[in-house]
Amino acid sequence: RVVYVNGDFVREKEAKVSVFDRGFLFGDGVYEVCSVLDGKLIDKDAHLARLGRSLESLKMNCPASLEDITSIQRELIAKNGIVEGTIYLQVTRGVADRDFNFPNSVTPSLVIFTQKKNLLNDPIAGKGISVITLPDIRWRRRDIKTVMLLPASLAKQEALERGAGDAWLVEDGYVTEGSANNAYIVTMGGVIVTRQLTHSILHGITRKAVLKLAEQDGYEVEERAFTPGEACEAAEAFITSASSFVTPVVKINDRVLCNGIPGPVTSKLRRLYIEMAR
Ligand code: PDD
Repeated sequence: RVVYVNGDFVREKEAKVSVFDRGFLFGDGVYEVCSVLDGKLIDKDAHLARLGRSLESLKMNCPASLEDITSIQRELIAKNGIVEGTIYLQVTRGVADRDFNFPNSVTPSLVIFTQKKNLLNDPIAGKGISVITLPDIRWRRRDIKTVMLLPASLAKQEALERGAGDAWLVEDGYVTEGSANNAYIVTMGGVIVTRQLTHSILHGITRKAVLKLAEQDGYEVEERAFTPGEACEAAEAFITSASSFVTPVVKINDRVLCNGIPGPVTSKLRRLYIEMAR
């Protein structure tokens, strides 16, 4: 695999960043994950716009123009022959001697790599996943897509160890989002409910696209917080992200939803999203 590091396309073995990179020492960096279908980037403008907002929130400069980033991404997709998968992009503040204060003049680091993945016919999407609920121990600016992913990693690992596919994070009695995805329920009345956009969750690019499709298709959408208890009484549940599109949730803690199979609303939204993306 060829990866992009600070201006160069190199084989992954030769790709190196400094031990003094602030991404490594402080988690001082932001990232984006974009899906690739039929060799094409999905929703690239929205992902780059969010990258811009993340960088601005952390007073970080972008090492390349958004147009240059797109051409680097396209070149990498072509070099690695990615038809279906994801492309990961990371900007860190750069390399400087360890100091909590921002370094004065520093060039941000830019790393981009591809991952081949089975997104369309992912068997997990066909069966649905189970989730467990865990306390949301992340910081309070989850709208910034930073590389500080240890709480997400711990949650996902605990889910795995307890035989679940993922974790839904809970704060003050309400679900915020999944470890790396947005969380939804469909009420018995057919209303799609997902948490409103604040600093408490990442403003998902897939979320925006799916809610638009749902509304166009005549579904009622409520953007509000819901509790794990309400979720357990729901007709259906699902998650969205660039790497999972729309994936059914068929079990929450010990409660089986929809007889343990993907529900009709979820399946329809997944189909609509994929049709739109291609
Ligand atoms: N995660 N919430 C969190 C905490 C996320 O990390 C993500 C994305 C989402 C969904 O956002 P989007 O629809 O823009 O992908 C929500 C990516 C896929 C990841 O970390 O791999």
